[in-house]
Amino acid sequence: DDLARNSTFEEVCYLLWNGELPNAEQLAGLTAQLEAERGVSDELMGMLRGYPKDADPMAALRTAVSALGMFDGAADDNSDAENRRKAILLTAKMPTIVAAFDRIRQGREPVAPKAGLSTAANFLYMLNGEEADEVRVRTMDVALVLHAEHGMNASTFAARVTAGTLSDIYSAITSAIGTLKGPSHGGANVEVMNMLREIDESGTDPKEWVLQALESGRRIMGFGHRVYKATDPRATVLRELADQIMQGSQQTRWLDLSDRIRGVMAEEMEKKGKKIYPNVDFFSASVYTTLGIGMDLFTAVFAIARVPGWTAHLLEQYANNRLIRPEVDYVGPRGLKVKPLAQR
Ligand code: ACO
Repeated sequence: DDLARNSTFEEVCYLLWNGELPNAEQLAGLTAQLEAERGVSDELMGMLRGYPKDADPMAALRTAVSALGMFDGAADDNSDAENRRKAILLTAKMPTIVAAFDRIRQGREPVAPKAGLSTAANFLYMLNGEEADEVRVRTMDVALVLHAEHGMNASTFAARVTAGTLSDIYSAITSAIGTLKGPSHGGANVEVMNMLREIDESGTDPKEWVLQALESGRRIMGFGHRVYKATDPRATVLRELADQIMQGSQQTRWLDLSDRIRGVMAEEMEKKGKKIYPNVDFFSASVYTTLGIGMDLFTAVFAIARVPGWTAHLLEQYANNRLIRPEVDYVGPRGLKVKPLAQR
């Protein structure tokens, strides 16, 4: 809560990688390093142009990050210094990749990153081709802060398992992106928007829609969490942000609809005695839509925000590595013998 209100994404990156917030000089140093790494090579841009135009942006990002590893001659050098350099490189380049792919698939030219802009401001600039106003930049920045790190979630675990084999950091982040893509994890923010549209287009009363969905055993996207058994604190901050950017605009439709769904879910879950509350994805959907970010980019935005968290975990993993190999209980039949092929 404190970081969301009183810091920037770059400061949080520094905190995650170094264990403390930067002073002015340290922040200037990191900002300069991020700025120097933001551009992508002509080779990589050529690859992005070759991807299918209808590819899922998460598949495009996963593939491009994997490719970045091939272009880095020191990809397999797992020293702390090299991995810190790569953490900055990935944090700087992933927004450029997402924005470039989005423009290319729409038949538009990618926009090069602009010096002097923060990660949040640059991302909106590269996506839309024009600088966003201060409120929008701050909203984007806070959304990045809120998503930057979240303990041992599924994608972080996948990243650590990959690094635990002493494979390289690009492979670990590729694993993480593939894991985040699923609708039970980061992909839920896209599903929230799909749900809002479905309700809107059906013309059904939102309460009726939710009741019918629950009746048929359907999950309401953006609700529930393996860890939080109360409202996800990130959802609370995002709800406030949504209010701020929608103030004075006519675009409160998605937020109003979200609030109604939240109300119905609160009543229904209380009746059923279930601790199912809004999670981070619930309000991020309407915030991103208001920022002009296309619906199918939402999970990729989550990934560009989470990369400092993933890489912080990886620095820790490489510094004190042990192979991660859980044991499982075999519950199948025992005592089987190989029957010759002709008898099967
Ligand atoms: N809508 C309706 N009911 C739900 C929901 C939901 N979104 N989530 C859980 N429940 C119900 C389940 O049906 C189950 O009911 P039952 O006990 O009567 O069978 C009960 O709550 C417990 O559900 P589990 O699946 O055991 O909870 P789990 O911790 O495994 O699941 C998860 C967590 C995957 C996030 C789940 O809540 C879900 O599918 N939510 C929707 C997808 C989503 O929003 N994911 C984003 C999570 S946040 C993140 O990853 C960034």
